[in-house]
Amino acid sequence: MIYSRVAGTGSYLPKKIITNHDLEKMVDTTDEWIRTRTGIERRHIAADGETTVDLAEHAARQALAAAGVAPAEVDFIAFGTTTPDLVFPNCGTLLQKRLGCRGAPAFSLETACAGFMYALSIADKYVRCGEARRALVIGAETLSRITDWNDRGTAVLFADGAGAVLLEPSAAPGILSTHLHSDGEYKDLLYCGSGVSTGFGSKLAISMVGSEVFKIAVTKLGQVVDETLAANGLERGALDWLVPHQANIRIIQATARKLEMPMERVIVTVQDHGNTSAASVPLALDVAVRDGRIRRGELLLLEAFGGGFTWGSALIRF
Ligand code: ACO
Repeated sequence: MIYSRVAGTGSYLPKKIITNHDLEKMVDTTDEWIRTRTGIERRHIAADGETTVDLAEHAARQALAAAGVAPAEVDFIAFGTTTPDLVFPNCGTLLQKRLGCRGAPAFSLETACAGFMYALSIADKYVRCGEARRALVIGAETLSRITDWNDRGTAVLFADGAGAVLLEPSAAPGILSTHLHSDGEYKDLLYCGSGVSTGFGSKLAISMVGSEVFKIAVTKLGQVVDETLAANGLERGALDWLVPHQANIRIIQATARKLEMPMERVIVTVQDHGNTSAASVPLALDVAVRDGRIRRGELLLLEAFGGGFTWGSALIRF
């Protein structure tokens, strides 16, 4: 039996930082409100002209270096993003050109904040069935481009960044299971209502009914972590680390409570990164790998929830 394993991780954040105090000068808000309701203190924002693929390339090269794999050896790219550089070619193929791995299948998928979980699940299947041996999985966003900076309800939340992992085949797990879900009934609670076939008639900006999203996110994430434990015959408390989607510290705390995990075993970067959508989980993973908290052999649960709604999880023996 072949498994896939995470051979290397990488991430990248644009240089420009916007603090809560900066936002106080832009919209009717306070540092105190943002910190207590979301846990966010600062976020990184792409420079003019800096694109999603620019951020992804930095993260990808870091993950490849960590895995000891040359860029040209990559044979599969799955790229989660809702903020692509172009309508087409897709971000995966734009990244492929930069890495020089010509001919490898490369694509992007748009499942909002769950984009990395979906990309990881697909790449895992390709490695497991022997069709990919060096699979690059990306989550990268320039959400600042679809944020209404006059809307205090969303401007304080969203940010830019990129994360990457390189998957390789392994005799031992590896990725133990992935679990994906979606429910389009909730479309009106969180969406960006402008697009190609609708003619870009409405504003290109995120709309969200935050309090409703909050409640459903807590419920669905609670269900998917239970599903993940049950699928692997694990009890609560069996995990070494929870690596959650970084949307709101209160959602993260609720999921940790559900798993009976102390917050010291939860990777939290929301204070520094804000909500970077598809980038948030691989970014948090890479931060904790590089600072030495997450070590080889440990058991990790990754989860994310976003627009659609779409949500998912992965159980990984790192
Ligand atoms: N500063 C000050 N006051 C504000 C701000 C702000 N930035 N934003 C909203 N308020 C006000 C509201 O107007 C409201 O005032 P009112 O009571 O006078 O009407 C009050 O604060 C409470 O507003 P709520 O929306 O009920 O606040 P809540 O506690 O729910 O927090 C938040 C809002 C942070 C958005 C929260 O609901 C949340 O995190 N939701 C989930 C977000 C999420 O997980 N998204 C999923 C992924 S995103 C993706 O897929 C792209």
